[in-house]
Amino acid sequence: MRMIFIGPPGAGKGTQAARLVDRYAIPHISTGDMFRAAVKNGTPLGKKAAEYMNAGKLVPDEVTIGLVRERIAQDDAKEGFLLDGFPRTVPQAEALKEALAADGVSLDAVLLLEVDDQLIVDRIVGRRSDPETGTIYHLQFNPPPAEIMDRLVHRKDDTEEACRARLDAYHAQTAPLVPFYDAEGLLKRVDGVGKPDQVTERIVAALA
Ligand code: AP5
Repeated sequence: MRMIFIGPPGAGKGTQAARLVDRYAIPHISTGDMFRAAVKNGTPLGKKAAEYMNAGKLVPDEVTIGLVRERIAQDDAKEGFLLDGFPRTVPQAEALKEALAADGVSLDAVLLLEVDDQLIVDRIVGRRSDPETGTIYHLQFNPPPAEIMDRLVHRKDDTEEACRARLDAYHAQTAPLVPFYDAEGLLKRVDGVGKPDQVTERIVAALA
């Protein structure tokens, strides 16, 4: 199964991806996680990406496309993958299509997680993640256990200001992927509002 998640920041892509990869036995490939790892390790890629990420802007296509092409060529992605946060622009979508076609394969589904902008801001500002387990929490919607509060991370781009910039980038640069994939017959719209379990059920039903 080769599928991708699109949707605004904070729509729940990472939360749902963690559940789906076990069910479909495919790797979860998140460009956001790859960039954050590069930033943490202080690599040249990380230094370049950090300035865009902190401002809520997209990292340039030429950087992002090369990174994903290398990642999906690895052995664990040969039989399938769940791409989370890529593509995010039409040139990225075209590059992905070309890379897959060169291997004689294509996407099976594109999941669009739909959540309104105001709810997005609430979700983003309250998000905390556990660096030890990778679990994503929310101070109100999915509260972390009290004993791990001290080690939780609040992402630098999870301020209200950066969130609004990310939403602007989503509407301007990523939303055009909706008609792009609709025209290819791949788009599955999923309501992302509700309990995470309900959203998972909707996704599984959409993929059935
Ligand atoms: P990235 O890490 O991909 O961020 P994003 O798309 O903005 O998505 P998020 O990780 O913020 O949200 P999510 O949808 O995964 O939501 P989550 O499950 O955590 O990218 C970060 C940056 O990297 C970009 O801004 C850009 O600079 C760069 N970048 C990455 N890819 C790029 C690309 N392809 N091209 C160029 N630049 C790129 O959930 C959010 C919160 O809501 C959590 O607290 C969670 O607990 C809570 N929650 C989840 N589901 C529910 C629910 N059903 N009900 C209530 N709360 C919920």
